Amino acid sequence: MTMVEERVPAAAAPNVASTLNAREVSAWFGSHKVLDRVSLLMRPNEVTALIGPSGCGKSTFLRALNRMHELVPGASLAGTISLDEVDIYRDAVSVTEIRRRIGMVFQKPNPFPAMTVSENVIAGLKLCGLKIDRSTKDDLVAQCLRRAGLWNEVKNRLNDNGGALSGGQQQRLCIARSLAVRPDVLLMDEPCSALDPTSTRRIEETIAELREEITIVIVTHNMQQAQRVSQRCAFFLAGENAPGHIVETGPTEAMFTNPQDQRTLDYVRGRFG
Ligand SMILES: Nc1ncnc2c1ncn2[C@@H]1O[C@H](COP(=O)(O)OP(=O)(O)O)[C@@H](O)[C@H]1O
Ligand SMILES: [Mg+2]
Repeated sequence: MTMVEERVPAAAAPNVASTLNAREVSAWFGSHKVLDRVSLLMRPNEVTALIGPSGCGKSTFLRALNRMHELVPGASLAGTISLDEVDIYRDAVSVTEIRRRIGMVFQKPNPFPAMTVSENVIAGLKLCGLKIDRSTKDDLVAQCLRRAGLWNEVKNRLNDNGGALSGGQQQRLCIARSLAVRPDVLLMDEPCSALDPTSTRRIEETIAELREEITIVIVTHNMQQAQRVSQRCAFFLAGENAPGHIVETGPTEAMFTNPQDQRTLDYVRGRFG
């Protein structure tokens, strides 16, 4: 390392987002194979959208990406998933640490309803074994709420119960909670499907801002949303007796205007699914 590089303080280093790489991932529930050799590179500073009809394995794939698939009894997996240089299933990194680095936001907002707004934000820290002292707690709460686009609406309601917020606010509270443990990747499984159009737009703005620092993978059934928020899309499909697989992956613009596979065009034009 040169002298010049040594003098650069760590704090000034830009936040480098992570690469998540799935190679030949297959998944089963018992003997039922639901994913067949799915390979997908999820790039830093991009939002990757997973699209495709119901039941084609999008949620299963997402859960494989942060080792939640294995929580289902009888579930199994093949293939390789790496987060930067770490093989998340084979290297000596704890499951807790993997789930800290790769956070998840679900379809239905799930804040702890009887905890306050601020308690909700820091609720994940303990689970991850992270400690925080009183003096930095308020800063962290404010910072995460800001990044989740919720601060202005709740800054005077930090001691209200999480359950008292609107649905869209609750979802942004869940995003703030995910951010508090400093993830490298955020997985979002239809995060807006329970929300009204205004709340949906608000979440989409938040996603656009977070993309600068965090790698995002989102499942969405809303083709307009995929076009608005993502830079890259992967189109999943399952056959009657065929497990889910990726038909095609590409830049979002190309996937919607000039895809390589006719089935992709039919799906994005709303002809099935
Ligand atoms: N917990 C589970 N146990 C057994 N089968 C499941 C479970 N979750 C999903 N599946 C099956 O796996 C397949 C893929 O489901 P899923 O990943 O939820 O698809 P998508 O998110 O694309 O709608 C479906 O056939 C579904 O029935
Ligand atoms: Mg799903």
